[in-house]
Amino acid sequence: MSDPFANEKSISSGLPAADPKHTFSIGEEEFLLDGKPFVIRCGEIHFARVPKEYWRHRLQMCRALGLNAVCIYLFWNFHEWEEGNFDWEGQADVAEFCRLAQSEGLWVLLRPGPYSCAEWEMGGLPWWLVKHDQINLRSRDPEFLVPACRFLEEVGRILAPQQVTRGGPLLMVQVENEYGFYGNDAEYMGAIRQALLDAGFEVPLFACNPPGGLENGYRKDLFQVVNFGAGAAEESFAVLRAFQKTGPLMNGEYYPAWFDMWGRRHRTGEAGPIVADLDYMLQHRHSFSIYMAHGGTSFGLWAGADRPFSPDTSSYDYDAPISEAGWVTPKFEAIREVFMKYLQPGETVPPPPVPKPVIEIPEFALTEAVSVFDSLPEAILDETPRTMEAYEQSRGCILYRTDLPAGPPGFLEVEAVHDFGWVLLSGVNVGVMDRRTKRFRIAIPARVESSRLDILVAAMGRVNFGTEVYDRKGLHGPVRLRFDHEEETVELKDWRIFSLPLDRDQMMALDFADREVEGAAFWRGSFDLDLPGDTFLDLSSWGKGVAWVNGHCLGRFWNIGPTQTMYLPGAWLRKSGNEVVVFDLLGPSAAVLRGLRAPILDQLRLGLDFAGRRRAEGTVDFSDTAPACCGAFSGSADRQVVEFRRLLTGRYLCLEAVSVIGGDEVASVAEIDALDPKGHPWSKSAWKVLWTDSEDLAAGCGGDNVLDGQPSSSWRSEAGRGCPHQIVVDLGEELEISGIRYLPPSGKRETSGRILGFQVYVGQSPFGLRV
Ligand code: GLA
Repeated sequence: MSDPFANEKSISSGLPAADPKHTFSIGEEEFLLDGKPFVIRCGEIHFARVPKEYWRHRLQMCRALGLNAVCIYLFWNFHEWEEGNFDWEGQADVAEFCRLAQSEGLWVLLRPGPYSCAEWEMGGLPWWLVKHDQINLRSRDPEFLVPACRFLEEVGRILAPQQVTRGGPLLMVQVENEYGFYGNDAEYMGAIRQALLDAGFEVPLFACNPPGGLENGYRKDLFQVVNFGAGAAEESFAVLRAFQKTGPLMNGEYYPAWFDMWGRRHRTGEAGPIVADLDYMLQHRHSFSIYMAHGGTSFGLWAGADRPFSPDTSSYDYDAPISEAGWVTPKFEAIREVFMKYLQPGETVPPPPVPKPVIEIPEFALTEAVSVFDSLPEAILDETPRTMEAYEQSRGCILYRTDLPAGPPGFLEVEAVHDFGWVLLSGVNVGVMDRRTKRFRIAIPARVESSRLDILVAAMGRVNFGTEVYDRKGLHGPVRLRFDHEEETVELKDWRIFSLPLDRDQMMALDFADREVEGAAFWRGSFDLDLPGDTFLDLSSWGKGVAWVNGHCLGRFWNIGPTQTMYLPGAWLRKSGNEVVVFDLLGPSAAVLRGLRAPILDQLRLGLDFAGRRRAEGTVDFSDTAPACCGAFSGSADRQVVEFRRLLTGRYLCLEAVSVIGGDEVASVAEIDALDPKGHPWSKSAWKVLWTDSEDLAAGCGGDNVLDGQPSSSWRSEAGRGCPHQIVVDLGEELEISGIRYLPPSGKRETSGRILGFQVYVGQSPFGLRV
């Protein structure tokens, strides 16, 4: 078994570009290409998410969509997974991607980070940064800035020759990414800007932010562009104009839909409003970049997770105009039609390229298997368990093992597990620790003799947004045993630790045989084909894990959906002896696979969740707590602040919706913040939603959304349950609170669910919650 993409080894980076040189600048009103006004019709595509064999095809699709430019991120960790060891080869050969773009008639906008976001492992930051205990990411802390600038210098070596000024397709280069969402240090932005100048970039540099993030870290010496989704063009450009009095107006990310997360409804975006916005922007000669024009796939273990912890699916289809497998969609056709109205004199748009062949693969069985527990490497000995990074492990799974003496029943407790921990006593599963619900305490039965305790931890991708990107994987120890009704705990010591990074070495060492296995294991099978072609592997009879075909890692799968298939590019298949390996933490209901001709991206099966995520039904009782305040929100889409009459101290916060807009009496909230004594929002990273009276999980509108920092996701109560509605948040510790901030759901046309009459409670205990 080889690494994903290991069969690609041609390096072509650093070569000078072939075309004549151009000039590109930012004029008083327009972009100027060779001195002439120019509108950038751009779309985002990530070469890391498209098999290299298909780069040209997807770029031809972008051109056929009517784009004149593509925007690309560099994911720093894709190029420097091992500190100091850069990779610009094969799938990481960005210079080749730029040359292909140029040969297909596309300009390129480059976004080299160092932070990118993009639903990518740690937002593109390398995992080894979190080996430092105190590092301040995305700041002038030398622990961060020195390696970040070293990376950008490398980027210059590879890509400076690709600038328009030197005959290449690179028009502009972005500094950082939506930094205003994260910090407020203009000097940090200045340091990254300077690093790009030092790396040899002479084309215009720019920064992107949503309208609300423009102010933080703002610098006059950086051209600003603004990010927004459907229906927000006019107002977002107005905000941008207030900051930047002259120059063209440009959107940096325009969302035609949104990404998917495991256990949440598949997101789509209607073509109508998108077409209207693009038409509006073209009419006004505003430039834009559709995020994503083609989303592709987060192959390997590269998918990230949203904050506070909501892992992203491997499919990054994004309901983009060019589908995950590179197909023309109705949205593609609708957008192309608008673009055709606004072509520059003499400009033509080619037809889409010939589609890639699609095949079906009849069902086949994976008959060979081996249990994870029978394929362990040499143990690392440690007194107390530490996170993966302490053992130089970057990702995958890790098994922590110790002996648990005979004794009465109790609870096993850890501070945290990132991200799931299966607890087994003498090989029998006794519970799962789950970061989504912060369930880090598992009941342990009585033992008449010493028993083997195993905690098998599986890591998802690191969080890619917010301060939570500092995401160490594995057990956050120590592990303690608490006996019923006792205050004292006993720390469990002397651990054997087994590193299971799911990398080439581990996969090659697996001892497959025809055998029956149970629980976490690897399965292997093979299939032949008449003719290779693209297909969608149907994983719906499997649990949760990772799949490889011919050594290419297709990504993670999970039976809860919404994605039930995995995109398998035909370029990775051959006629005979195609080998499939599936790693499944739960075990399949049937160890079979087949290839479908179309993906299944929208089938949620929350009832299959191994952790039974639905929050318990229950009631709160406020008879012992006076409201911190009550009143009425305006009913507008604006963020609204409510100040308490006096400072309150408490660990629990409840927002109660007494009345709402809309006859169905559904309450909806995008974000809740608690304000500190100075009126600034407290960090929410240690918070969790303890309870809601109702949450529409099937619609992806769970209570956790009020803590994720994303205005676009919200908590929504289910239809058919009248007001009042309550959401109770555990703040993790007692906080002094001077007020709250409430953000209604963002849809400008969608007013239903916004809260009118409200009450807020702050308490030391969770308001007599009974579940
Ligand atoms: C932000 C980021 C992007 C991406 C989108 C959501 O705008 O800049 O990288 O994460 O959100 O898809």
